[in-house]
Amino acid sequence: MVADSPFLSQHPGFAEGVPQAGAFVMQADERLKTPRTAGLIWREMQRCRIERGGPVLAAGGGLVLDVAGFAAATWARGVRLVSVPTTLLAQVDACLGGKTGVNLGRAKNQVGAFHPAEEIVICPAFLDTLPEREVRCGAGEVLKTAILSGDPALRELTGAIPPPGPARRSWFRTASERCLAFKAAVVREDPFERGRRIIRNLGHTGGHALEGATGFALSHGEAVGLGLVAAAVVARRFGAPGTLAGEIRSALAGMGLPVTVPPGADPAPLLARDKKTRGGSRTWVLPLGWGRVTTAVIEPADEAVLLAGAMSELRG
Ligand SMILES: NC(=O)c1ccc[n+]([C@@H]2O[C@H](COP(=O)([O-])OP(=O)(O)OC[C@H]3O[C@@H](n4cnc5c(N)ncnc54)[C@H](O)[C@@H]3O)[C@@H](O)[C@H]2O)c1
Repeated sequence: MVADSPFLSQHPGFAEGVPQAGAFVMQADERLKTPRTAGLIWREMQRCRIERGGPVLAAGGGLVLDVAGFAAATWARGVRLVSVPTTLLAQVDACLGGKTGVNLGRAKNQVGAFHPAEEIVICPAFLDTLPEREVRCGAGEVLKTAILSGDPALRELTGAIPPPGPARRSWFRTASERCLAFKAAVVREDPFERGRRIIRNLGHTGGHALEGATGFALSHGEAVGLGLVAAAVVARRFGAPGTLAGEIRSALAGMGLPVTVPPGADPAPLLARDKKTRGGSRTWVLPLGWGRVTTAVIEPADEAVLLAGAMSELRG
């Protein structure tokens, strides 16, 4: 949510007309996605005497949903949560699946809980005011789900994002419906990410490292887009067709996302910070085609060679 100051607890007029409701308004800034903010929300809940039934209504992008969801998960050992996502990324992904959390220092989402929203309200009209870069950021996640699911309707969407207007609204609606349907099926099968749900990290191993390597000049969605290409290049060793990386790159270009890494950005040193590192090796989620994906634990020496190959394609 957008506000003039980071914390506008008891913002005058914000909850006007909502009986007995309180409001906590925060700026969507990763530096404020902290235990301290969760504590301020708890204080507001205490002031409003929120009981176990809640409900807490979280409205905003993925950042606000994560921190508000975490406050709801922990208040009175869990109160009912209603989610109102207002960014494309949140409408196609973050609003569903129950992951809530806050950062601890630079460690993203280090403290958290699984606490699914009981109700999700999707309103594409919110996206009319979304900056273009945020639209593209969400589109990177749509592409990820198109690859994972092999859903032809989603693949068609990745050709281009229509200009603002009715066609774009319809693009948003289809993207949200199809992405959430696929995510719901994966989450139902593996709600606590002990197995199949790991596939949702497609593009994130290389993507997170690239995000850090560029000092966050690449946004999360832009970096994940490039991470999808890197994964497709690495996946050739595991049987992916040589053409897949090019197809993903064409989709990125069609949606206005970057297709090359900025000069000098080297993701290799940052790979070790990946949360899926065990005993020095990482589990990569690898696309073998549209709708076909596998996972592989890749030893560091091998990974260095494969990643260097992917980076050399992404530079040229
Ligand atoms: N829980 C999950 O499953 C999950 C999944 C993916 C990402 N995330 C988290 O989500 C966060 C990223 O979420 P995001 O991409 O939605 O970004 P965000 O929540 O940081 O919002 C991006 C920007 O858009 C603005 N904004 C929000 N709604 C708007 C609207 N309707 N009109 C105009 N501006 C609007 C915000 O103020 C902010 O400046 C990260 O913290 C990430 O860790 C969580």
